[in-house]
Amino acid sequence: MTGRLQGKSALITGSARGIGKAFAQAYLGEGATVAIGDINLDAARRTAAELGEGAYAVHLDVTDLVSIDSAVRNVDERTGGIDILVNNAALFDAAPIVEITKASYDRLYAVNVFGPLFTLQAAARSMIARGKGGKIINMASQAGRRGEALVAVYCSTKAAVISLTQSAGLDLIRHGINVNAIAPGVVDGEHWDGVDALFAKYENRQPGEKKRLVGQAVPFGRMATPADLTGMAIFLASADADYVVAQTYNVDGGNWMS
Ligand SMILES: NC(=O)c1ccc[n+]([C@@H]2O[C@H](COP(=O)([O-])OP(=O)(O)OC[C@H]3O[C@@H](n4cnc5c(N)ncnc54)[C@H](O)[C@@H]3O)[C@@H](O)[C@H]2O)c1
Repeated sequence: MTGRLQGKSALITGSARGIGKAFAQAYLGEGATVAIGDINLDAARRTAAELGEGAYAVHLDVTDLVSIDSAVRNVDERTGGIDILVNNAALFDAAPIVEITKASYDRLYAVNVFGPLFTLQAAARSMIARGKGGKIINMASQAGRRGEALVAVYCSTKAAVISLTQSAGLDLIRHGINVNAIAPGVVDGEHWDGVDALFAKYENRQPGEKKRLVGQAVPFGRMATPADLTGMAIFLASADADYVVAQTYNVDGGNWMS
């Protein structure tokens, strides 16, 4: 039996850990090769070694155009051309409006908005030159659907990702490139450990308390694991999604409806 992504070449940004790592494992299981693109090259190498044949590490800082171009070129040279890009790398921060710093704003917009736009651009240029189309998946968030008191900057970056998905989706479909997004809700892992610590600070909570509360509030009854998102990630990367254009799909256990 052949996989749904047999012979495809994927680049997943920020995939040394967390959701991106789970996507890499799922894509490998469907027959793709996967570039583990991450700013943390040592962690990317460890992840690639752990995931085994078909996975390889690529140094990538999505805030740096030179690094983006070199990562996409690396994937092209190694595999004959990139078929799938997942714009997954992102940073989180939280603070009351009156305490937001320019440094936090600049960093989050660089990784969460500049990164997806210009990585998408580099991948799209390569896909257009090759003439075989492709699939681009952006990681949005339920945070992009609605603001949150302490999360102004991160929420607005994820709203930008949803908007970018729409514009790029409409522009690139004439080249056979589908651009869509996934909006997860709350996904357990190292990312949420950091989120929990920030809420403990600003809402005066015990460590772990915010995590427990957001998990209880999900209609499904618990936080997601990265594995809960892989079905949508495979679908959007596959030929089954050829007619799906410029959409953002909630995979959040029922938190948000749109
Ligand atoms: N975890 C959640 O609850 C949740 C919810 C909604 C959306 N998301 C989104 O899903 C995606 C993955 O989240 P996660 O929880 O796996 O995050 P994570 O923090 O566990 O992993 C992020 C990865 O990105 C890498 N990275 C950071 N800066 C980078 C840069 N400049 N260039 C390249 N790589 C860089 C990190 O080294 C890390 O490996 C993100 O876009 C996040 O916003 C996560």
